[in-house]
Amino acid sequence: MVSTRSIARSDLPEVVAFIARLQADPTQYIGYLDTDADAIREQLPACEPLGLDGVIAATREGRLVGVLGTDWDTDPARVWWHGPLVDDDQWDATADALYAHACALLPTGGLEQELFVDARNERIGAFARRHGFDRERSSAILTRQLEELPSIREVEGVVVRPMADTERNAVAALHQQLFAGAHRPGARLDEGAQRFVLVAMRGDELVGYLAAERQEDGQGYLDFLGVPSTARGDGIGERLIAEVCHHLRDAGSDRIHLTVREDNHGARRLYGRLGFEHERIGVPWRRPRRIR
Ligand SMILES: CC(C)(COP(=O)(O)OP(=O)(O)OC[C@H]1O[C@@H](n2cnc3c(N)ncnc32)[C@H](O)[C@@H]1OP(=O)(O)O)[C@@H](O)C(=O)NCCC(=O)NCCS
Repeated sequence: MVSTRSIARSDLPEVVAFIARLQADPTQYIGYLDTDADAIREQLPACEPLGLDGVIAATREGRLVGVLGTDWDTDPARVWWHGPLVDDDQWDATADALYAHACALLPTGGLEQELFVDARNERIGAFARRHGFDRERSSAILTRQLEELPSIREVEGVVVRPMADTERNAVAALHQQLFAGAHRPGARLDEGAQRFVLVAMRGDELVGYLAAERQEDGQGYLDFLGVPSTARGDGIGERLIAEVCHHLRDAGSDRIHLTVREDNHGARRLYGRLGFEHERIGVPWRRPRRIR
């Protein structure tokens, strides 16, 4: 018989070791959680809004056999599932028990639900289908070390700098145009102590922006990059990427990650040219918002 419960701080060492072991295997890997034990130890208590109360463990005869973390927001009204990560011969039953327990913690208004997994994690695909998730377009996850940095090439007439308050509306409008329905709305791109937005300006005109974060584990994450269609091909995207690499390295990061649609060949070519390497293909699964 499998039993489930929220974890306590004293469970962290065992739970972190369990997650790190499974995350190292692409056929088990789920997104939103790191592969590195130190990073996972930081991530679990940072799950919003419940912290460790929102991290559910499954045990069978006293042995830890599964974990599922909840991380949700109300704008957009969405939960990002951190799992289920299961190591059990009754995989489906354990994953379902974790999911039932965690769903009962969600706010009653209903949330959109999202899973993000390695394309090789086939078992979770069956789990997602069973629970009414739809498969979305897959993304490539790319990474780059920040030991050697791409050189900063000037683009004539264009200045790149941190976003000023007066530029917020223009950035939000461009963000909405390029990434409607994204996990983070334009007005909140720099919400949080470690998030920042760079803008590319040609005079008073916004000709590009980049939103990034320095994560709890110290690594960088490039969240969004956009150049209006009328300004593309001039090197503004390249300049913004080079700037963020320098900025993150100066802040102490030694690596940057990003996610880009698998079929966004133009952007992938650009990142490849600037030294980003392929890490994995990730598949998002989404379940529309329903009132429980
Ligand atoms: C990807 C993007 C930021 C590139 O900006 P950019 O200022 O045109 O980039 P650069 O001028 O520095 O480099 C041009 C590169 O972008 C790629 N590119 C993608 N779309 C392009 C377009 N419409 N026009 C020109 N280049 C384009 C090309 O592959 C080109 O690389 P290449 O020189 O090796 O062929 C921009 O096309 C964009 O905003 N696209 C929509 C949003 C998006 O896909 N963002 C990236 C995912 S987070």
